[in-house]
Amino acid sequence: MAEEPVNIKEFQELARKSLPKMYFDFFNGGAEDQHTLRENVEAFRRITMRPRILVDVSRIDMSTTILGYHTSSPIMIAPTAMHKLAHPEGEIATARAAAACNTIMALSYSSTCTVEEVASSCNAVRFFQLYVYKRRDITAVLVQRAEANGFKAIMLTVDTPRLGRREADIKNRMTAPRLKNFEGLLSVEVASDKGSNLEAFAAATLDPSLCWKDIEWLRSITSLPILIKGVLTPEDAIKAVEAGIAGIVVSNHGGRQLDYSPATITVLEQVVHAVGGKIPVLFDGGVRRGTDVFKALALGAQAVMVGRPIIYGLAAKGEHGVRRVIEMLKDELELTMALSGCPTVKDITRSHVSTEHDRLNC
Ligand code: FNR
Repeated sequence: MAEEPVNIKEFQELARKSLPKMYFDFFNGGAEDQHTLRENVEAFRRITMRPRILVDVSRIDMSTTILGYHTSSPIMIAPTAMHKLAHPEGEIATARAAAACNTIMALSYSSTCTVEEVASSCNAVRFFQLYVYKRRDITAVLVQRAEANGFKAIMLTVDTPRLGRREADIKNRMTAPRLKNFEGLLSVEVASDKGSNLEAFAAATLDPSLCWKDIEWLRSITSLPILIKGVLTPEDAIKAVEAGIAGIVVSNHGGRQLDYSPATITVLEQVVHAVGGKIPVLFDGGVRRGTDVFKALALGAQAVMVGRPIIYGLAAKGEHGVRRVIEMLKDELELTMALSGCPTVKDITRSHVSTEHDRLNC
């Protein structure tokens, strides 16, 4: 393999070689049979392109606006936990790469750098991903620290009342490292006879009673816009709109939570249809190519978030690796737009792709 990977798959292999097996498996793996993990990627392969010819594509403009923020492309960094297990600079390296690429980073609640460290290390537009802990006081402190440090939105993850069963972590006896954001706030000592202590940590901290009425509580402690991450059905998308949410993320947590959840790209369009343009719909799960980004936009996403590929880049080459991963996806998207006859993001429409469903119905 060439030293500089030419695609995300090669970055994945480089990450596999760079990391201890326990950490690689933690980042790479999914829940139970890993059906959803595989399907997230495979479902993209079943969508084909419908390129238009004889369009002037001498200039391609990938720039767009996400929640009012101008970005160089519709590609964002998904919140993923514990970047210091991938690279000693952790989330700081990721945030710097986001700034260099003029893209938005969502920082995980389970970050290994503090919100203050990340905020002071770069000027990227940052969203703060939130889990609600049983200890609401701690959650409130974290939200307020994020707001005070210039984070622009709260991305509330709602697909994790309990942790999905990730068998590689159990086998590897994976344990959670120190989460610096919680120092002085929370000390959870969890021993587990189940191999990994991640599940026990989640059970001790996450609030499984969280429900729609708690959005009001969240709104009462922050003036930031609130996004909900983990929507998979039109029913819940409609509830999110009714609850006054600023935007939703169609996500199944990268196949790490409920196995046999649908591949996100297969439900995107029905969710977009239910939302009816009232709020932005973001998307994540299985994006590995510029064509995947294009397909998600064609099916109605305003932007996509990328999870594992960012970690692969970080593990393989630190900040440079994250930049390369984002640039690679951007280059691929730019080429896809040119070859499809779409000079701008707005030109990408539903008629530029064909789904299995389309083909069955004609
Ligand atoms: C995640 N994801 C996640 N989501 C979240 O809301 N908070 C978190 O702390 C994490 N942590 C996390 C760790 C790792 C290692 C992975 C792979 C994923 C889910 C993430 O935000 C996103 O939904 C998926 O990663 C998207 O799928 P891809 O791009 O990894 O296929």
